[in-house]
Amino acid sequence: MNNYKRTLVTCALPYANGPVHIGHLAGVYVPADIYVRYLRMKGEDVLYICGSDEHGVPITIKARSEGCSPQDIVDRYHKIIKDAFSGLGINFDIYGRTTSEVHQEGSAAFFRKLYDEGKFITRESEQYYDPEARQFLADRYIVGTCPKCGHEGAYGDQCEHCGSTLSPEELIDPKSKLSGAEPVKRKTTHWYLPLGDYEKWLSEWILDGHKEWRSNVYGQCKSWLDGGLQPRAVSRDLDWGVPVPVEGAEGKVLYVWFDAPIGYISNTRELLPQSWEKWWKSPDTKLVHFIGKDNIVFHCIVFPSMLKAHGGYILPDNVPANEFLNLEGDKISTSRNWAVWAHEYLRDFPGKEDVLRYVLTANAPQTADNDFSWKDFQARNNSELVAIFGNFVNRAVVLTHKYFGGSVPESGGLLDIDRETLAQIPRIKESMERNLEGYRFREALRDAMEIARTGNKYISDTEPWKVAKTDLVRTGTILNVCLQICADLAVAFEPFTPFAAGRLRRMLCVGLNAGTDHRKGEQETINTYRPGEGAAIHTGAVPSEGIVLSWDILGAEEILPAGHCIGEAELLFAKIEDEAIQKQLDRLAAIRAEREAAAKAEAAKHVAPQKAEVTFEQFDAMDIRTATVLEAERVPKTDKLLKLTIDTGIDKRTIVSGIAEYYTPEQMLGKQICILANLAPRTIRGIESKGMILMARQGDGTMRFITPAEVLSNGAQIG
Ligand code: MF3
Ligand code: ZN
Repeated sequence: MNNYKRTLVTCALPYANGPVHIGHLAGVYVPADIYVRYLRMKGEDVLYICGSDEHGVPITIKARSEGCSPQDIVDRYHKIIKDAFSGLGINFDIYGRTTSEVHQEGSAAFFRKLYDEGKFITRESEQYYDPEARQFLADRYIVGTCPKCGHEGAYGDQCEHCGSTLSPEELIDPKSKLSGAEPVKRKTTHWYLPLGDYEKWLSEWILDGHKEWRSNVYGQCKSWLDGGLQPRAVSRDLDWGVPVPVEGAEGKVLYVWFDAPIGYISNTRELLPQSWEKWWKSPDTKLVHFIGKDNIVFHCIVFPSMLKAHGGYILPDNVPANEFLNLEGDKISTSRNWAVWAHEYLRDFPGKEDVLRYVLTANAPQTADNDFSWKDFQARNNSELVAIFGNFVNRAVVLTHKYFGGSVPESGGLLDIDRETLAQIPRIKESMERNLEGYRFREALRDAMEIARTGNKYISDTEPWKVAKTDLVRTGTILNVCLQICADLAVAFEPFTPFAAGRLRRMLCVGLNAGTDHRKGEQETINTYRPGEGAAIHTGAVPSEGIVLSWDILGAEEILPAGHCIGEAELLFAKIEDEAIQKQLDRLAAIRAEREAAAKAEAAKHVAPQKAEVTFEQFDAMDIRTATVLEAERVPKTDKLLKLTIDTGIDKRTIVSGIAEYYTPEQMLGKQICILANLAPRTIRGIESKGMILMARQGDGTMRFITPAEVLSNGAQIG
């Protein structure tokens, strides 16, 4: 397992049809970034690849709805997403795009090779076609009435109202979204990758060969393989995408899930045109795909089959896919605007990039869906980052200035408590390494935090501020131990909270050997030296003088020698006040309220189907008339019943009605209503009820009584 010479890390290419949100970050990008930073600090050669996924139907739909071109859409979101990543310290070696020339050419060539070697089959099928727009219609482009719930705006693939998965054939009264025309079926031919041909091979590779994969990933692969693999279409009738590079394929493009994963290779080629092959074709390279759970089949079954069909490429060593993150207990949804967007977070919480990284890692949905809540965000910042990590560092640095002029004091002989404390660090480091290498980032963060807790407990127990009154030598020893732990923290937290780790290094006047990155392409392999300056990266040789931290030094006995001068204390983390949290909660509450109002309005539109026919005689037999409520009271021990005394014009009588759910007795008093007067009397809760109040039931189930448009005399006959 450790025979690899280099590691290629890819992150799922985000669709450039919207910004990225915390679900994406927690599931894919933050864990990948932690992993890459860790490996680089260990001195491993890592290539870190991502980019925008700029094809696919949703992008064309978005463009249409905004009246612009798909290119405009991807240009806009590519920039927003790219900036958000770098704002969070997620610095890929390249953040490419699938509209790039390299990719257009590379994905077409990939297809062409498989085509030439007869690796595809063709199939004719019937697809919906818009005769007015003269285009085949993707499922999303067909709207109609949902056969399951009657919602009128259901899509050809899904009803967003009831959540059912649909096929366009099931829609009632289907219409093209392009022209409004009724779509017709038309024959079309597409290329398919016969996945069944790879079934046995996949099964041996994954089910026998990768039992160490996460159980959610392994389980999904197993159920796909057990179910038998069907041929997958790799082309679409669409005008946005990589044109199918074959004679007679006009109007056809590569299916987005065919071209997008090739984007990983294209982006590598774009960055390293000379040396990209060693990353993709050498068995010395360990390939790791970071993805969300909805991408598992594509990365474990489809893309590997494509690579196998092509030949010459390596396969992923692991695919650490995460489950989903919820927001305040509700599923994150782009279309419902239920999300915390990365770029908005950066705007609302400047300087707090690390806090989001920290909270998303602490709540990483590694084995099950997990939840993000703003209260938890605040609590983790205030009671963990500020109160433990920040507080410990602050006390150590401030006291060193107070008693030793900012110079690391001599260690005047260690006591048991000192030795025991320091001995914890290598033990924690080991656990951290195991967790990081096993893709258990939440646990690794807990380990890193354990170092901070250890330091914080040590300084509280040893109370150097008290000892200083009587014993400066002992005070020096204590602070020496504390400062070594501070240096450990500057290493241990670099993968998780790189901005704070940089500030901490600045306080300690040390740099970090952060390993090599490839952001400048092939000009050089860069040894990244990060002095203590936030996550801003300064490339160049590691300086020969001064103290340079690295992963290896973590847990060493003496990282900072006595006499080393440290800088002034600065704030590592700042408290987050209630107002900032309340603002976010208010924003979400407003979105929720808006959604609920819209759902209500939508439900109210729902009209019950007409009842069976009645004769005129049946209708005429009903004596419907006006009446006025004279008295109203709740029927004791019931929630729904009111006892009403009414003046029907003929008599005064009692009606028991189930309207207490909708009206209070006070609201009914004096109201003119309509009743069915000759309904056979019934005894309800011991009260004889004569007649029934006419009520209108709305689509959402709520009821309202019927009142004449102007006050009439009681007993007026209706009909
Ligand atoms: N755009 C896809 C998504 O967001 C991921 C594409 S990953 C790639 O679900 F491998 F296809 F690039
Ligand atoms: Zn529905």
